[in-house]
Amino acid sequence: MTQVHTKQTLKSIFGITLLTAIIGLTACTNPDVKARQDIMKNYGDAAKMMGDMVKAPDTFDIDVFREQAAFLDKESKTPWSHFEDTKAVGEAKPEVWSDNAGFISASEDFQKAAADLNMVAQNSTTLAEVKPAFGAVGKSCKSCHDDYQVKKDD
Ligand code: HEC
Repeated sequence: MTQVHTKQTLKSIFGITLLTAIIGLTACTNPDVKARQDIMKNYGDAAKMMGDMVKAPDTFDIDVFREQAAFLDKESKTPWSHFEDTKAVGEAKPEVWSDNAGFISASEDFQKAAADLNMVAQNSTTLAEVKPAFGAVGKSCKSCHDDYQVKKDD
């Protein structure tokens, strides 16, 4: 019995290792690009959760909204160090580096908007109160993407 158990465990550990290796190879991405894309994906999930509630006010839940706003605020500082290597291109436009001051300024606008949204959310109870600050965050994402992210159809 013990032996069978051990074999199965080894097999599944091997399976997981192999799977991880395959996923890693398929992605074949620079670690900085992967790190910042993962963070941006999480931003996207948080923004979607809040945005869905803004679009469907009867689903508005202040606790969920607060949680997502706190997450965005906390994570708002994390992607930028992954844009330092000029060879880690990913889907960033060359302007990230050729106009680095503009990019940093856009990242700071976003950090301020995210901090403001969190502050407002923690001190509010209604959708009407949080909506303007959420709109400002959305604008700061879009404005940076317009200038610095390669669009799929570019
Ligand atoms: C200061 C600039 C900037 C801000 C602010 C910003 N982004 Fe991004 N975002 C980028 C860049 C540049 C990329 C492309 C990164 C890459 O592929 O290397 C990107 C990529 C993405 C992606 C695609 C990730 C993937 O899977 O490849 C999503 C989703 C995203 N951002 C969502 C958001 C959301 C939501 C916000 C606001 C809450 C936001 N971003 C704020 C610059 C920004």
